[in-house]
Amino acid sequence: MSIDFRRLDRSDFGALSGWLSEPEVRRWWREDPALDAIETRYGPIVDGDDPTEVFVVVVDGVASGIIQRYRTADDPDWARALRTAVPATVRTPSAGVDYLLGRPDVRGRGVGTAAIDAFSATVFDELLDVTTIVASVQQANRASWRALERAGYRRVWAGRLDTADPSDDGPAYVLVRDRGHPAPSDGHRATQPLGDVRS
Ligand SMILES: CC(C)(COP(=O)(O)OP(=O)(O)OC[C@H]1O[C@@H](n2cnc3c(N)ncnc32)[C@H](O)[C@@H]1OP(=O)(O)O)[C@@H](O)C(=O)NCCC(=O)NCCS
Repeated sequence: MSIDFRRLDRSDFGALSGWLSEPEVRRWWREDPALDAIETRYGPIVDGDDPTEVFVVVVDGVASGIIQRYRTADDPDWARALRTAVPATVRTPSAGVDYLLGRPDVRGRGVGTAAIDAFSATVFDELLDVTTIVASVQQANRASWRALERAGYRRVWAGRLDTADPSDDGPAYVLVRDRGHPAPSDGHRATQPLGDVRS
């Protein structure tokens, strides 16, 4: 199995709309899948006007989902919620990651674990000042927090996050992976670097 990442482009918006409409994704990633809503949310990212960086997850040559990274400080709402929840545990500067596999046939086969592990390694490789990667997950979303744990993250907090994001609605876990964490024994790496990174 090969897993690669390439930057999201407008030509991916149709596929992204389909992924966001898929029931298992909608359950956890609550975003409007309409094309105009995607343009509003992701257009500025594609144009480099939003500091979040979004990549398409390509599995065996097939675009299968997205994974994104951002500096925590670039999202004040999230940074405040994190400071309130886990003031001492998350070292800064930190980055956040979010991900979805939109194709049902690729889920539950280890792809999410491998993608998160490889992508996290590239975050540390390319955002050189970042010391910790933070992810928040609904406790009911076992596939997501188990994939994070298998990719070298550890749970540091459980509770309800105070954010405006509907995807944070419900009991959550916060997990972190620190720079220098040894890769899982069956660790996976992206087969090519992600390219330009804004800082
Ligand atoms: C979350 C997601 C990326 C995980 O990727 P994946 O490829 O499906 O997961 P993996 O095959 O790597 O499995 C990781 C762990 O989850 C478990 N798992 C997989 N699918 C599961 C499911 N439907 N229910 C419960 N556990 C599940 C696996 O057994 C494994 O745990 P284990 O080590 O205890 O056996 C993927 O399922 C997905 O995109 N889901 C929809 C969108 C989403 O939830 N995004 C995250 C929002 S925070």
